[in-house]
Amino acid sequence: DRQPHEAELLLAIDQGTSATKALLLDTRGSVVGTASAPVQASHPRPGWVEQSPADIWHSVREAVRVCVERAPRGRIAGVGLSTQRESVMMWERATGTPVGPLLGWQDRRTADRCGRLLDEGAGPRVRSVTGLPLDPMFSALKAQWLLDAYDPDRSRGRRGELCLGTVDSWLLWQLTGGAAHTVEAGNAARTQLLDVRRRQWDPDLLALFGIPAQVLPAVTPSTGPFAPLRGFAPVPDGTPVLAVLGDSHAALFGHGVFAPGQVKATYGTGSSIMGLVADPATAAKDGRLCLTIAWDDGSPAYAVEGNIRSSGATLRWLAQLAGRTESELAALAAPDAGGAHVVPAFGGLAAPWWDNEAQGVISGLSFGTDLPALARAALESVAFQVEDVIAAVEEVTGPVSVILADGGPTDNADLMQLQADTSQRVVRRPHARDLSALGAAHLAGRALGLFTAGELAGMHRESDVHHPRRDPADNRARVAAWHDAVRRARAQRG
Ligand code: G3P
Repeated sequence: DRQPHEAELLLAIDQGTSATKALLLDTRGSVVGTASAPVQASHPRPGWVEQSPADIWHSVREAVRVCVERAPRGRIAGVGLSTQRESVMMWERATGTPVGPLLGWQDRRTADRCGRLLDEGAGPRVRSVTGLPLDPMFSALKAQWLLDAYDPDRSRGRRGELCLGTVDSWLLWQLTGGAAHTVEAGNAARTQLLDVRRRQWDPDLLALFGIPAQVLPAVTPSTGPFAPLRGFAPVPDGTPVLAVLGDSHAALFGHGVFAPGQVKATYGTGSSIMGLVADPATAAKDGRLCLTIAWDDGSPAYAVEGNIRSSGATLRWLAQLAGRTESELAALAAPDAGGAHVVPAFGGLAAPWWDNEAQGVISGLSFGTDLPALARAALESVAFQVEDVIAAVEEVTGPVSVILADGGPTDNADLMQLQADTSQRVVRRPHARDLSALGAAHLAGRALGLFTAGELAGMHRESDVHHPRRDPADNRARVAAWHDAVRRARAQRG
């Protein structure tokens, strides 16, 4: 029961690949409590990435329990949820028991099957319907793999005994005591099964990937209505879920980008660069980027996105190789790489090249190339790759003068300055953390009428701003040299 002095709070849950974060915000949008719980991944074979659906759910419960304990008492008026995308799992409709593991977005077990479909010429059709290149990262081929493994003749699926879902589907199912088998439009847009313009499952693609329609969740807008919470103590039964978003989409919303023109870059293991577009039809013509639903809060907002597979992961890889921590590696980076380049095509290259055959390359080595030079080259690879995608995004969205940055690696001010120099654009990094969780809370708050779009756009006045300092001609030469190195990585095909 509500006490008269009790504050109203919003609960945000961000379920990511390595951890679940929970935030509590007050009605002015200030964070009053945070907590995090780790989630493990396993790699049973090279290229396989699995997580346990039960562990994911446990991490959500744990993060929320600790967050509520730590924060001042208040009434939780509603919940916003953001989740890792593309990862997919199955469970029993009757009992909610998981069937097999969650196959993570990084999982490459379907690469061969993907290659065969590309050879058969399926790529253009898949792209024109879904807005996505045919690639093992998206859910469709993983869903097919799960069904092949656990329902090879699809009889259980056709009888409606199995539920297939993304992480948001699974969490909504759990949070509502099994009342909902849904997927939010933005998350659905990353499955490679959705007709991105109609916002419906595409029957031809379901046939191509062997997915019976009966296993699929219902596609909902990002603002529901969703079934209310049940059995999620300490959050009371009946608390409404107000917003659900893909994590990258939530970060864009969290930056306050509500109209085309600004672009956000999330730096993590990989990177996601994303900007809203006015016209999905024009955006779809650029084969280097993904067209996706950013969110749907009554009407759909479309975005283009380019994903980079290895950014923070490159720094981690080199740090491990050198027996240092990542911060030690960053601290010893030379001011210049002396002509060396690291092209981190560990699992091929994603946007804007989409070349699964590209191989990792270190080029331009000399006897003078030491660890500090390589550390610098690794750092530069992050900035060069982000800029390659922004250059493609700008052709669709129009000029991009400011990059809105978020994610752990943005703590490195050198990297942010390097990005400004490499991109010859202003880089703005809000002091606020956890932009995905914040974005989910902001959309939830807007759905509740607590914040207007104008208020949300003005929430990040406190930020670090980096202006380009490098001479433009010098920068052009550096970018050209990077592209030479990328060409070498792409020429390595066996
Ligand atoms: O596309 C995958 C992305 O949604 C995962 O994000 O933050 O869990 O690495 P994150």
